[in-house]
Amino acid sequence: MKKKILISAGPTREHIDAVRFITNRSTGKMGYAIAEAAVAAGYDVSLVSGVVNLTPPANLTDFMIAETAADMADTIKRLAINADIVIMNAAVADYRPKQTLINKMKKKDSDLVLELERTEDILKSLGEMKKFTNPDQILVGFAAETDNVINYATEKLENKNLDWIVANDVSNNAIGFGSDNNAVVLINRKLEKIKIPQASKLEIAQLILNTIIP
Ligand code: CTP
Repeated sequence: MKKKILISAGPTREHIDAVRFITNRSTGKMGYAIAEAAVAAGYDVSLVSGVVNLTPPANLTDFMIAETAADMADTIKRLAINADIVIMNAAVADYRPKQTLINKMKKKDSDLVLELERTEDILKSLGEMKKFTNPDQILVGFAAETDNVINYATEKLENKNLDWIVANDVSNNAIGFGSDNNAVVLINRKLEKIKIPQASKLEIAQLILNTIIP
């Protein structure tokens, strides 16, 4: 039977009111490239995406848009139960406005303070779920960092009970958000580091899949 891969990609949007939201610079290119490479390699691929300007690759088994961190948490946790491999590439917001106004907010003369609350750490939930439901599942996270890249990435690997983390230096515009290229370091549970030098996101995607899937 074909192995099932679940991939998340793109940013989330956290709504302030009817016309405004908080988001981030993720374009989804890396996650879509992984989905494309995984389909080409013959896997059964489900892609859960934030709102992006990309066309999903052909021949996905499932394609779903998840706009907010809460939507993404619901969809990913449901699909992860049956996945052999989960790759969380989405740039999920860590905070959302405590309240979302149904109408457009009107300005006042005074400053505005927005109160934010934590969203669920989806990958951490998957790392907990994996212990009980699917210990053989391969769980992969991304760490987009601007400094201390390897240290922060290693902390995420350990805190979230991951098998691999893909560390990515987003302070370098040649390989960061929106670029067609990337360069990453893969770190596993044994803290072995595999460096993938700068290449197209599709080539990086193929190398990531070849490394993480035995
Ligand atoms: N992630 C997630 N749910 C969140 C935030 C992040 O599943 N609410 C996942 C991302 O998809 C990524 C990994 O966790 O695979 C690391 O995301 P990142 O934003 O780099 O790290 P955080 O855990 O948010 O940590 P920090 O904000 O301290 O850098």
